[in-house]
Amino acid sequence: MLDVDRLLIELTVAEKAALTSGSSFWYTAPVERLGIPRIMVSDGPHGLRAQPGEGDHLGLGGSVPATCFPTASAVASAWNPELLRRIGRALAQEARACHLSVILGPGINMKRSPLCGRNFEYFSEDPYLAGELAVGIVEGIQSGGVGTSVKHYAANNQETDRLRVDAQVDERTLREIYLPAFERVVTAAQPWTVMCAYNKVNGRSASENAWLLTTVLREEFGFEGVIVSDWGAVYHRVPALLAGLDLEMPPALGRSPESVVAAVEAGEVPADVLDARVRKVLELVAKGMPVLELDESFDAEAHHALAREAAAESIVLLKNDGVLPLAADARIAVIGEFARTPRFQGAGSSQVNPTRVDSLLDELRAVHADVPFAAGYGIGGTADDAALRAEAERVAGAADTVVMVIGLPAADESEGFDRTHMNLPANQLEALRAVAAANPDVVVVLVNGSTVLLGDVVPYARALVEAWLGGQAAGGAIADVLRGTVNPSGRLAESIPHRLEDNSSYLNFPGDSHVVRYGEGLFIGYRGYDKCHQDVAYPFGFGLSYTSFEISDPAVTIHGSVAEGTFGVTVSVTVSNTGTVDGAEVVQVYVGDVESSVTRPVRELKGFAKVRLAAGASQEVSIELDQRAFAFWSARHRRWVVEAGDFVIAVGRHSRDLVSRTVTVEAPTLAAPLDRDSTLQEWMSDPAGRRLVEEEVRNGQPAAVLQDELIQVIGTMPMSTLANFGGMSLDHDALDRVTEAWRKQAVIP
Ligand code: BGC
Repeated sequence: MLDVDRLLIELTVAEKAALTSGSSFWYTAPVERLGIPRIMVSDGPHGLRAQPGEGDHLGLGGSVPATCFPTASAVASAWNPELLRRIGRALAQEARACHLSVILGPGINMKRSPLCGRNFEYFSEDPYLAGELAVGIVEGIQSGGVGTSVKHYAANNQETDRLRVDAQVDERTLREIYLPAFERVVTAAQPWTVMCAYNKVNGRSASENAWLLTTVLREEFGFEGVIVSDWGAVYHRVPALLAGLDLEMPPALGRSPESVVAAVEAGEVPADVLDARVRKVLELVAKGMPVLELDESFDAEAHHALAREAAAESIVLLKNDGVLPLAADARIAVIGEFARTPRFQGAGSSQVNPTRVDSLLDELRAVHADVPFAAGYGIGGTADDAALRAEAERVAGAADTVVMVIGLPAADESEGFDRTHMNLPANQLEALRAVAAANPDVVVVLVNGSTVLLGDVVPYARALVEAWLGGQAAGGAIADVLRGTVNPSGRLAESIPHRLEDNSSYLNFPGDSHVVRYGEGLFIGYRGYDKCHQDVAYPFGFGLSYTSFEISDPAVTIHGSVAEGTFGVTVSVTVSNTGTVDGAEVVQVYVGDVESSVTRPVRELKGFAKVRLAAGASQEVSIELDQRAFAFWSARHRRWVVEAGDFVIAVGRHSRDLVSRTVTVEAPTLAAPLDRDSTLQEWMSDPAGRRLVEEEVRNGQPAAVLQDELIQVIGTMPMSTLANFGGMSLDHDALDRVTEAWRKQAVIP
């Protein structure tokens, strides 16, 4: 163990400065003279990309073989934090086996636009869902004695110009959409590290943003671990250190410790600030060093089996007119290059060197006899697509049912760039049309990390299976779902629109001139589609099953009090499996504020539960909503506020299949902070404010200004402007008196 207090005394300034940067790409800095070892950190969220020794960025070089679990957009669709906990435990075991102390994940940024090239690495367009899933995986990994790095904090929602772009986001939107998943995982699971983003947030680089790093993350959320930079996200070393960044990765060669030492000597960095950063790094090294001594291995077969189970649970059945599950004796044909050459993960820093890869074709052939195959299309453009199509038509025509796999080629989505459209490749769609003309019994399987437009697919698919980038065991998992050995239970963690233009970020994504304005504010994903009454192809939370479910008897019970911060609602329903197959349903609870002083989303996910039920079985399910589920971030009061009035609690199977109950919430009315620049109307609509103004006016000449008709006309003027104009008995001195008196009596939170 390290004695951190003693070390802080014994370390020289140069050693301390060195500790606040890594020593190389994947290692913290050792101080051999004092027995401080280096620890290794490596990507990534859904499998390890460990490069012991020296490494490189962005998955260019090799890494140790590791299990490639389903990517985040896949596994999020399972809506199952427990599954993530199990994956986390397996990841920790693999990390221990290669002496890796911190896994650089999960990525929990919001899917602001379907175009973000890294959406496959992120969970959802909804902060509540992303937060719950993040807690699952972080707890799973850290229970195995290995750390996590929750990333990328904050507002890193695009790849375009990602190292420089300034994300301009109002505070309420940050608080309600872009920060809550971080807040939740920090308060519930204390990740060992949080990784700051490359981009700027409201004019300041995330790595130098004291408001983000210190005020919000450290002081408000209570983060206790290390704030580490994304790889190369430190642009100004000393301001970053002062803003709260503990560890720069990797070191800026020839610049890093030197500039910190110079700043300490010049008095720009107080000694206690440097000590605070070093303390965090030493605490991290202390937690991470036990893995250096271990001699462990992992059971690759068992982890592959878990990857298969997870991939199967991640699959979302979007359409099924009865063709699935496939009959055991069905004469099937398999079409699509992706069935033979699986696409199962995304490119960039999260790219895993898998222990093995299963293809759907092999998996189906292992069960069904004589499965003919045709590629149907080429991936990447050099193939003779016309010839491939002709062969696919012939193969399809001779089968009872066709399983056709289509999806996004690796070159279409990756870390490092954004998509410019949501279309599937034209040659694949053409192949689908040709195949469906030859045999209309087509089951389409989609492999893609980000959502794709489905208007040209649905008419040609009797069944549609969204399999995402399901990791190395996806082939077997898809076969399990097609054959009905697994009853699909995935639900969309992001909406699928009809058109890219329907998405609320469309006008402002990805920005230009190094600026992106989050003009849609809170209204990303379903919040945007719902607010604009926009029809979507498949709504948030949607997913079919081979059985049927009924959600009945919704009941809501209020408890606690808003004034005391203890308010909550218990929502209970009965869930019944009304079909003939065992299965799982995801009960989803949304909250909407009917009458509010600010614009609010129509509904927001605030609770869910995944319920497994045998055919014919029923179960009562209770979901707790806490006070925060009803609150908005008040820019005026600079805090979370629950307003009195009616709220709709909607419960059901997806965001557009809900039954509602209304609850009436009692809550104190918060005094609006009034000052000299508040308008006449604001003063007159506050009871105390009105009384004070009226008293003051009565003391002087009776003023026409307080007549209701006139208030309508000049009410939007600040009081200070009216005082300038004269003509009312409230001159500047009187206004000062009124303001002071109001402040004395007000309870401003
Ligand atoms: C990525 C991070 C990753 C890091 C190290 C960066 O480019 O944005 O997600 O953890 O590289 O590979």
